[in-house]
Amino acid sequence: MDIKKLEAWYELNHRKLLFRETTDPYKIWISEIMLQQTQVETVLPFFKSFIKKYPTVYQLAKTDQETLKKDVEGLGYYRRFKYMLIAAQQIVDVHKGFPKTHKDVLSLPGVGRYTAGAIMSIAYNKPYSALDGNVIRVLSRYLHIDDDFRIEKNKKKLDLINQEFIKQARPSIYTQSLMELGALICRPKNPKCEICPLSNHC
Ligand code: ADE
Repeated sequence: MDIKKLEAWYELNHRKLLFRETTDPYKIWISEIMLQQTQVETVLPFFKSFIKKYPTVYQLAKTDQETLKKDVEGLGYYRRFKYMLIAAQQIVDVHKGFPKTHKDVLSLPGVGRYTAGAIMSIAYNKPYSALDGNVIRVLSRYLHIDDDFRIEKNKKKLDLINQEFIKQARPSIYTQSLMELGALICRPKNPKCEICPLSNHC
């Protein structure tokens, strides 16, 4: 894969989104939880007011489920915020601050392989694969793999390939480039292949 070209494309073309103005793992975590099953445009105002109300994990850990539920009313899939509060309390009580290792991040309630990879790569710039639906679409098209990625074994295979790519990349830029390429260019319908930085070998 032409990682250099992909990263250069990202640097020139990415959207300036509020959650991209930080490398604070707490804020990256909040954004990634909010972005699950939810459009970027929908998330942005919620993310802004949430961070204003809970600027650090210590403020978040002190709130209660009822209050939090009201804060995120409208985002849907409330269960993720239930786990979020439990995780915030663990971060404060058990980890004494936002965890720094992949193993500890992955141990947080509501944090799966994708979210852990996103936090490790975007916030800490460490080479951990973060495969979401967008990234799966980009990579499987590029690599001509038409497996069913609902099957865990197939997803794992792609995850290992992505893990090798990210080791040769700038992890934070790389992860966000694939997400951005999936959102702006390599869309589910009507992909803009004519302007895609990866179209040469796709
Ligand atoms: N969807 C999930 N995570 C994202 C991110 N970090 N940037 C853009 N879209 C996303």
